[in-house]
Amino acid sequence: MALHDRWVQERRHEHYYKLAKKLDYRSRASFKLMQLDDRFGIFREGSSVVDLGASPGGWLQVARERVGERGKVVGVDLRPIRPIEGVETIVGDITDAGTMAELLRRFGGRADAVLSDMAPNIAGHYSTDHARSVELCMFAVDVCDRILKRDGACVMKVFMGDMADSLLRELERRFQHVKVTSPDASRDTSSEVYVVCKGFKASVEPRPMEDKASEAKKPEFTVKGGFV
Ligand SMILES: C[S@@+](CC[C@H](N)C(=O)[O-])C[C@H]1O[C@@H](n2cnc3c(N)ncnc32)[C@H](O)[C@@H]1O
Repeated sequence: MALHDRWVQERRHEHYYKLAKKLDYRSRASFKLMQLDDRFGIFREGSSVVDLGASPGGWLQVARERVGERGKVVGVDLRPIRPIEGVETIVGDITDAGTMAELLRRFGGRADAVLSDMAPNIAGHYSTDHARSVELCMFAVDVCDRILKRDGACVMKVFMGDMADSLLRELERRFQHVKVTSPDASRDTSSEVYVVCKGFKASVEPRPMEDKASEAKKPEFTVKGGFV
């Protein structure tokens, strides 16, 4: 990255970091979601929302503010999340059938929006990080198939790369509108983008739930590049 670009990136990073501290948000990522919602209209008063990869809780805070007291917000993460008033959380791995079952049980109905800011542990090897990010997105797609209302919305983060096309195709099968975007607050890594999907068609049958020990822990989608 050129020196000037890095300087701009660091200033942006610092700006949102300070703003998050000042306004009491748990992460800079809060501003990414606000900007996406301002532009694409994800939330409505009273909406029900599932947030995957929710720790430390910045997106949960924004979702809660925007859906209000009549809304429902449930967050899932590998790591515990400090309590947020009006928000339920589940500690677990969403690729694990037990966590998925717990989410369905706890949510107890259909969601208006599924969010995923999930990120893999960064290996520092570009194609590995990209493949893991796409894999997590495929699990978010799986959550949509199980829980999203017809016409619902989904926002997911993905590290771009050659497998992204397959992910976008899966999303286009399921949603009327699919848009890849990069909110101002997220322009700090060149490969990170957000896919905003609206108008869920409820057209794909959810795959059967697999046992945790089963080989078929991975989603059934076929991704260009050999990942299945
Ligand atoms: C960038 S952080 C999310 C930040 C969050 N949106 C916020 O605003 O505070 C990514 C999160 O994804 C979680 N994550 C990664 N893989 C996951 C999985 N398989 N199941 C659940 N959470 C996962 C990580 O533990 C991490 O907390």
